[in-house]
Amino acid sequence: MDAPRRLRPDPAFREDVLAGLAAPIKAIPARWFYDRRGSELFEEITRLPEYYPTRTETALLERHCPEVAEMVGAGRAVVEFGSGSSAKTPILLRAVAPSAYVPIDISGDFLRESARLLGADFPALPVLPVEADFTRPIVLPAAVSAAPKLGFFPGSTIGNLVPRTGVDLLRAMKDTLGEGSYLLIGMDRIKDPAILVRAYDDAAGVTAAFNLNLLHRINRELDGDIPVEAFRHRAIWNDDKARIEMHLEALRAVRFGVDGRAFTMAAGETIHTENSHKYGDRDSRLLLRAAGWGVVAQWTDSDDQFAIVLAEAEAPRFAP
Ligand code: AVI
Repeated sequence: MDAPRRLRPDPAFREDVLAGLAAPIKAIPARWFYDRRGSELFEEITRLPEYYPTRTETALLERHCPEVAEMVGAGRAVVEFGSGSSAKTPILLRAVAPSAYVPIDISGDFLRESARLLGADFPALPVLPVEADFTRPIVLPAAVSAAPKLGFFPGSTIGNLVPRTGVDLLRAMKDTLGEGSYLLIGMDRIKDPAILVRAYDDAAGVTAAFNLNLLHRINRELDGDIPVEAFRHRAIWNDDKARIEMHLEALRAVRFGVDGRAFTMAAGETIHTENSHKYGDRDSRLLLRAAGWGVVAQWTDSDDQFAIVLAEAEAPRFAP
């Protein structure tokens, strides 16, 4: 049963849900997956046998961070976009001998907790958390303003953005990090659609629970009465757009209310809840180049499942 409604729902959540359910093609931004339960379910997803990205990227970092260190040199301030609660950050920090670690996250609680954990593992490293929305350029702490920077954006989170907003984000990162900076970014590869669909529709139903949790969250926080049992999780490979799409499909015609507004859905109609873009070798280079980053190295595993990409901020120049 859903818990009682929170007293003050997040106004941005309310706005996105009401606008998304009223749109001709219903869609709700994927960032609203991550309430407490959603974050727990995502952690579970990263350990699923079908969900190859996390373990593949972790192995790539273990193997190639020493080369990254050689290329970028010691003493950089590592700036992580979205603070790392995972095992990945220590791998990079151990290899590159940074002068400081700056995790940036919009959620202060999460940020403080991961900064505390990192600080315990690296007692001599200055850890300078910044609570901010990294989709816009950020002024970094004065203590690192003179240091060269290495941005870190693992997990192929870039794939959750459509190319236009992905490029905006990469450009904002370049503005935040400044001239002479590098960016190490994880990017999931295009592969056999059957492998992709399995990764987003696992046998144990964890990804289904993650997707459906959004409806529970709406019911709880926005005074909704969506019949959650009348929906099913769908993961679809959209070949034209090179992305996995997650949808919540109505199994029958439904009517429900959210925050005093009435909505109807026909049987088979969906709410689009997430895109997860996948990239070929040239796609990742083009996306980065569109935002002013030049790729200097790209490493993939032997099955070409996932890539970690090292890019350097390009100086603006005249082009023909
Ligand atoms: C966070 N993000 C990179 C994940 C992905 O693979 O797109 C979110 C996810 N959705 C379902 N499974 C994992």
